[in-house]
Amino acid sequence: MLQTPDRVDISKYLDKLRDPVDGGALRLREDGKLEGVTSGAVYGFSGAFPDLRPGRGRRADGGVAEVPNVPAMAHEEVLEHYDDKPCKNYLALDNVPLGRYLRDASYDYLFKDVSFMVEVGSGRGAIARAFQANRNIVPFCVDLAYGSLRHVRQPPLNADGVLGSNLCLPLADGCADLVVSYGVIHHTPDPLRCFMELSRILKPGGRMLFNVYNWDNLYRSLYFFFSPPLKAVRKVFGERLGDLILKFTVYLPYYILLWLVLGLVQGRWTLPPFEEGYEQFGDFFLTPIARFYHANEMKTLADAFGLEVIEQEAGGWPSNGFAHFVWYRKK
Ligand SMILES: C[S@@+](CC[C@H](N)C(=O)[O-])C[C@H]1O[C@@H](n2cnc3c(N)ncnc32)[C@H](O)[C@@H]1O
Repeated sequence: MLQTPDRVDISKYLDKLRDPVDGGALRLREDGKLEGVTSGAVYGFSGAFPDLRPGRGRRADGGVAEVPNVPAMAHEEVLEHYDDKPCKNYLALDNVPLGRYLRDASYDYLFKDVSFMVEVGSGRGAIARAFQANRNIVPFCVDLAYGSLRHVRQPPLNADGVLGSNLCLPLADGCADLVVSYGVIHHTPDPLRCFMELSRILKPGGRMLFNVYNWDNLYRSLYFFFSPPLKAVRKVFGERLGDLILKFTVYLPYYILLWLVLGLVQGRWTLPPFEEGYEQFGDFFLTPIARFYHANEMKTLADAFGLEVIEQEAGGWPSNGFAHFVWYRKK
C-alpha cells in the first residue's frame, strides 16, 4: 500500500510555474487553488499534486479552460493508459549508458551547478531515484498520469512535482538547469512539440538528458507485429476482460521470458511480481503510441531547437541498441 502523501508546497515554485492556457503567471488563492493571473483559469489539486494538465483548468463560468495545441483524444488515451498501468522500468545502471553518466567522474561536468532539475514524464520515478542515489539531485517531477506520478512522493524519493503535459509544460521559459526526458516523447501524439517545450524550459547553458526508442532495434519489429492484435483483444472484449484474457494467454510466456532476460542480463533471478510485469508488458505492447528514431534525428532536433549535442550513443538490451541516449546543451 502506498502512503497517503502530503501535498506539494506549491508556494515554493510559483516563480517557476506557468498557466498552461496562456503561459501567464499563476497565483495561489486563499482556498489553496492556483489561478492564472491573465487567463483567470482555476486549478485544483489531484491527490498531492497541483493539476495543471490540459482540460483540468476551469473558467469563471465553470467551463473548461482550453489549452491550445493538444490533440485531446489521443492525449487522454495515453493518460488513461499510464494512470492504469504505470510503467515499470527494470532499470539496471550497469547495462545502460545512464549508469556511466551517473557514476563516472568524467561526466561530472553534466551535473555542475544544478539548482533546479525537472524530469518530464517521470513515471514511477525510476530515473529520479537513480539521480538521487548517485548525484544527490532530486528532480521536480512532471507527469500526465496521477497513477504514475503518485509514486514519486513516496520515500526515499519524496519528490515535489506537478501534473502536467509535455505538450504544454506548466513551467516558465529557461527555468531549469537540467531537464530529463527518459522514454517519454515517443509515447505522445506530438513529439516535436514536446521537444520544443523541453528546450523552452531549459536555461541557456543548461543540459538535457534525452532518451527515445531506436529505430534500428528488434523491439521496433516486435511492437509493430504484436501491438495491433493485442490491442484488438482489449477493443473487442473491453479493457477489463481483455486484460484478463491477455494475462492468462500471451502474457504467460512473456512473463517467463521477462524473468529469463532479467536473470541473464541483470543477474536478477527472482520472479518479478506478476502485476508489475504486466505493467511492463503494457508499456511495451499496449501503450497507445510508440515511435522510433534514427540516430541522425537526434542532431536534427538539436539544430531545429537551438541545442547542441554533447554526448550521444545507443544503449540497452538487446545489442546495446534499444534506445538513443543523448545529452544536449542549450546554446
Ligand atoms: C515509458 S514511461 C517512462 C517513465 C520514466 N521516465 C522511466 O523511465 O521510468 C512514460 C511516461 O511518460 C508519461 N507521459 C506520457 N505522455 C506524457 C505527456 N504528454 N506529458 C507528460 N508525461 C507524459 C507517462 O504517463 C509515463 O509515466
